[in-house]
Amino acid sequence: MDVTRQLDETARELRDALTRLPRTLPPRWLYDDRGSELFSRITGVPEYYQTETERQILADHSAAIAEITEATTVIELGSGTSDKTRTLLDAFTAHGLIERFVPLDVSEQTVLDAGEMLSERHPDIEISPVVGDFTRHLHRLGEVASSGPKLVMFLGGTIGNFYVEERRAFLGALGDVLAPGDWVLIGLDQIKAVDRLIAAYDDDQGVTEAFIRNALTNINATYDGNLDVGNFGYVPFWDGRQERIDMRLRAEEPMHARLEGLDLDLDLGAGEEIRVEISSKFRPERLAAELHEAGFDASRGVFADDDDDFALLLAQRR
Ligand code: SAH
Ligand code: AVI
Repeated sequence: MDVTRQLDETARELRDALTRLPRTLPPRWLYDDRGSELFSRITGVPEYYQTETERQILADHSAAIAEITEATTVIELGSGTSDKTRTLLDAFTAHGLIERFVPLDVSEQTVLDAGEMLSERHPDIEISPVVGDFTRHLHRLGEVASSGPKLVMFLGGTIGNFYVEERRAFLGALGDVLAPGDWVLIGLDQIKAVDRLIAAYDDDQGVTEAFIRNALTNINATYDGNLDVGNFGYVPFWDGRQERIDMRLRAEEPMHARLEGLDLDLDLGAGEEIRVEISSKFRPERLAAELHEAGFDASRGVFADDDDDFALLLAQRR
């Protein structure tokens, strides 16, 4: 791959996102080393129910997923620490068909550390970590050799961090690159009481706020910028129309900033906001319909906890 071109593309994408109105940020800016560390801390705060709920669903249903899919290659997109994946790989190992696990993440250190941890735990599985971008490099999944069906997992509810059109493109690209009979397993956070949703993104310890602010710190460091991170207020809210949590940073007073590496001057008026991240919430049927449109049979299984807080959707390429 041409790294220079990729860097240019990343810079151009960020420049566009910051200059277009409403101003937004591509999610990858949240995950430098400090951001990945802050995300790990988020998964442990009491208000953030998603991670432990998904872990329990995986513990309850991984054996069934191994049996239904008979996958020999498991790929995890946005794998992070692959912490929850250990349970799933244990079940696949017990089932006896898995040959290879491919974690893919944009955060290099995180995916390499995860690869090392999993290689020690699963010496019989070939662990092949990939540093890559799941919005750009999905076509490369076609190059992953597999003696049997592939299973592509996208856990944690990360599908909710896409805008609708990005989600359609992502599912479409998965449909294009997978062969009939291959599988996807997608974790989704379900729609629930608004106070619980807001609390999950505005925790008492302020870890989520630090995570959101860190995206600007990361951009300053990468592009020699002087965005005054401390002069933004954190504004998380539930957008009921779009069914998503919206996490913004609001300029408390008029602000001028220069991002040298992007050749960009930013002028923000008092009260002007940057939408740093969204986290969409779903009814499983909605995602099932979108998967159907992308070429999948999405009736192969919905695994959820008793309270329907979170769900895993299993679908097969038609
Ligand atoms: N799957 C894990 C981690 C979720 S956090 C879990 O369920 O806990 C989201 C992960 O996606 C992070 O590890 C982040 O580095 C990764 N990520 C974000 N944008 C990405 C992109 N464009 N391409 C690849 N990975 C990305
Ligand atoms: C990775 N993703 C599913 C998380 C979420 O819940 O949307 C990211 C996150 N942002 C703030 N807290 C957690």
